[in-house]
Amino acid sequence: MTTAPLQHLALIMDGNGRWATRQGLPRLAGHKAGVTSLNTLVEALVRQQIPYASFYAFSTENWGRSVEEVTGIFALLEYYFTQELARLKAHNIRLRFLGDHSEASPLNPRIRAIIANATAETAANTGTTLLIALNYGGHDELVRATRKVAASGQEITAQTLEAALDTAGVPPPDLLIRTSGEQRLSGFLPWQLAYTELYFTPTLWPDFGPAQLDEALAWYASRQRRFGKV
Ligand code: FPP
Repeated sequence: MTTAPLQHLALIMDGNGRWATRQGLPRLAGHKAGVTSLNTLVEALVRQQIPYASFYAFSTENWGRSVEEVTGIFALLEYYFTQELARLKAHNIRLRFLGDHSEASPLNPRIRAIIANATAETAANTGTTLLIALNYGGHDELVRATRKVAASGQEITAQTLEAALDTAGVPPPDLLIRTSGEQRLSGFLPWQLAYTELYFTPTLWPDFGPAQLDEALAWYASRQRRFGKV
């Protein structure tokens, strides 16, 4: 069996803090370097015409970090989805956001407006779709989706649930990459990753570039995907 072309890549960008600590820098410097790494990687994904890529930017659990770190990460997110928006648009990138961005969420109105604007401004683009998980938790997504189906009066089936997920209409990830040596999913896309190939690399996120991406894609190409069949 040959491996079908990769439609959707999921990435857990881990190791920014350790990267900074190893350089004797504050953790936030690691997140800044992480954004630079993200920029380079997005260009590589566009070049390779990968249809969908999901990034774990901020989880529902990340609110437990220090106020200073949370504020710093949000400053970077705001910067990225405003200052870098023109460049993303020039690459024909469509942005979608995963997670709870409702009024009841802990997100402030400014970031909620930035999310809505970045989504609307890129909605008609036809190149790579970037799905950014922001205030995202896998259990939270499944609870919200189940409530949505129940409220609609539909029967709860795999199809109705899937259509109520934040990723509705997007094929499930073929490959997940997690950097920094940790081998867990940390609540990222639990439904969608059920049959995904998992790739763990010790490389820290700020050091993960196009060459490391190529290595991961070559590994993926060597996999035999059986989806539970022989
Ligand atoms: C994990 O590293 C990284 C995060 C929790 C934040 C990721 C955020 C960015 C790269 C910046 C903003 C993102 C976008 C999409 C513009 P860690 O801090 O857990 O590292 P550690 O495990 O070494 O402490």
